[in-house]
Amino acid sequence: MPEAPSRRAFGRALGAGAGFAALALAGCSPQEAPGLGPGTAVPTDALPPSPASALPSAAPTSPSAGTGPASGTPVPDNSPAASAPGLKYSLTDPASQWVVVNKHRPLSPADFAPADLVQPAVRLAVSGDAALLNRSTAAAAEHMFADAAAAGVVLTLASGYRSYATQTATYNGYVNTRGRDEADTASARPGYSEHQTGWSFDIGDGGGACSFQPCFADQPAAGWAKENAHRFGFVVRYPWMLHPITGYYYEPWHLRYIGVEAAGDMHSRGIGTLEEYFGLEPAPAYP
Ligand code: DAL
Ligand code: ZN
Repeated sequence: MPEAPSRRAFGRALGAGAGFAALALAGCSPQEAPGLGPGTAVPTDALPPSPASALPSAAPTSPSAGTGPASGTPVPDNSPAASAPGLKYSLTDPASQWVVVNKHRPLSPADFAPADLVQPAVRLAVSGDAALLNRSTAAAAEHMFADAAAAGVVLTLASGYRSYATQTATYNGYVNTRGRDEADTASARPGYSEHQTGWSFDIGDGGGACSFQPCFADQPAAGWAKENAHRFGFVVRYPWMLHPITGYYYEPWHLRYIGVEAAGDMHSRGIGTLEEYFGLEPAPAYP
């Protein structure tokens, strides 16, 4: 059976990332990434950290009464989400665990920086800013990594927080090497990345096998995360074949914290994307 077109495109996109990463590593003196040997595809996430922004974070949205999103019930995506039926947290506030960031939904403010970045006590494959997460995500990650380890699966934190400035360098690197169209399939434009919120991070496995490559999907770390991450409040944000909705090819390494209740709900209902879960429009491309 021929390989699905999206699989081929996915491979090309990731190849582009690997190619750029080699350049980035050569030119930007990145942080050491333990376990990532020479020639290993290293993500642009491995670019050197930039100083944490001094910008204040937006105030967290207070939970309000609600029973959780109902699949198929559209929610006005630019309304104050906390007051929308079924929504407990804002979909627009970058400090909200339910913020939805995609090609139609830039961060506001664009240069948002979390106020509560911390380094989780987990196995790290990066250092500096890239080893930081917001406090809630860090705590959940610590529980998840420990649970995986108890099951004999090593997870590493391969890329966490990225400032607006770091995302600018990351994205421009892709554009310079592969052009804008291909860059947009793998890297968010500055102001459009979940990594800037502190709610997301990328995982690797203990040996760095297939890091940020399509074959990572077959590594134990990815398999474990796909089946178990929801128990700790995480979803695989860019699932296989759902790029027409998310705007990005499959990233089995990219996890996003939304809380145990919502992640479990998505898992049990077989809902793959935040766009579908919250009734938002697909965001395959920038307007
Ligand atoms: N790779 C994801 C889409 C990002 O750049 O945030
Ligand atoms: Zn990521």
